Amino acid sequence: MYPQIKNFNLNFNGNVYFGAGVRKKIKLILNENKWKNLCIVIDKNLKKVSKINQFIISLKSYNLCIITCDISEPTYSHLEKKRINKKEKKIDVFIGIGGGSSVDFAKGLSVLYTNNKEAICYRGFEKFKKPIKPIIAIPTTAGTGSEITPNASFINNDDKRKMGINGEAIRPKYALLDPELTVSCPKFSTVSAAVDSLVHATEAFVAKKTNLIARNFAKDGFKLVIENLNKVLDYPNNIKYREKVMLGAFLSAVALMKSGTGPAAAMSYPTGVHYKVPHGIGGGIFLPYIIRYNINNGFYGYGELYQKKKLNISSKKKSLNFLSEIKKKWVKFSVPSNLKKLKLNYRRINLLTNQTFELKGALKQNPVKFDKREIFNLFSELSGDKLK
Ligand SMILES: [Fe+2]
Repeated sequence: MYPQIKNFNLNFNGNVYFGAGVRKKIKLILNENKWKNLCIVIDKNLKKVSKINQFIISLKSYNLCIITCDISEPTYSHLEKKRINKKEKKIDVFIGIGGGSSVDFAKGLSVLYTNNKEAICYRGFEKFKKPIKPIIAIPTTAGTGSEITPNASFINNDDKRKMGINGEAIRPKYALLDPELTVSCPKFSTVSAAVDSLVHATEAFVAKKTNLIARNFAKDGFKLVIENLNKVLDYPNNIKYREKVMLGAFLSAVALMKSGTGPAAAMSYPTGVHYKVPHGIGGGIFLPYIIRYNINNGFYGYGELYQKKKLNISSKKKSLNFLSEIKKKWVKFSVPSNLKKLKLNYRRINLLTNQTFELKGALKQNPVKFDKREIFNLFSELSGDKLK
């Protein structure tokens, strides 16, 4: 059943180019905007990739400042260390090339370029006041959605929390989604980013504040990713499969942006900060258990998101089929089914529970009440032996 029609605002506020080879549009964009001084923020592992190298060489007629993002989960202190001083270097635009971390890093550096306080002071929503330099996102993974979001995630090592710098101004002005650039993405990162996008689609589809736009984007996004990720893993150089997963991940990110996230994403944040479980994998570990919990508590809306075969069965059965399809795919994608490796004890489970519970905005979006007790129970179940 479709949710009730609500008022909405549809503002992408950014220009997205999609397709094999679109990276070559960069010069057109730079020249149109008269941007000559570029700060390129690039994932350290990508410097050796020939396609990326050639891409950077193609920009040598511009003034380049290259910053390496050498950490997979950037921290505020790391961001502060790489701050660029406005008086020493003229920058017109920040270009993030890499996974979500590199794009987020470019966003953070742009904020610090024109705003003088310590990086941590800008943690939260709309905390920076001075206008910032525009951002171009060129993702080399398909999934995180950072290329279209107004958020940049950073970890604060002092209080061990991941909470980003957020504000409309940091939404990239341009995103070049070129599936050819994802060929260099290693298997594990490909899976983590794609599973992240499946979590985005699922949670955005069932969120309490969902709407028709988010649901339609989520449906198409989910189908493209779930049906093509295994093909990407089997044929990593095939651009057609890469293209489908990248498009699906993008559509799922739009769904997330237009709706909301949920408990799987919320639980993955502290798990990532304390145990370095990548965000996509973390969300993937929690998702099937949250789906099971919701079905057990009378929410049967998952069959409308995706059905492998169209069957004339009850919505409960469709939702159960959806859950078993996710479980099957998770085995194929090697997404862990528990947290036993982390060896969590009661004290650590409490810590993770309390930090997840702080993310009330996401928890409230779950179609069924999902409170502190449920978070604690799920962390306990995933750490123990009573898994089904
Ligand atoms: Fe995510």
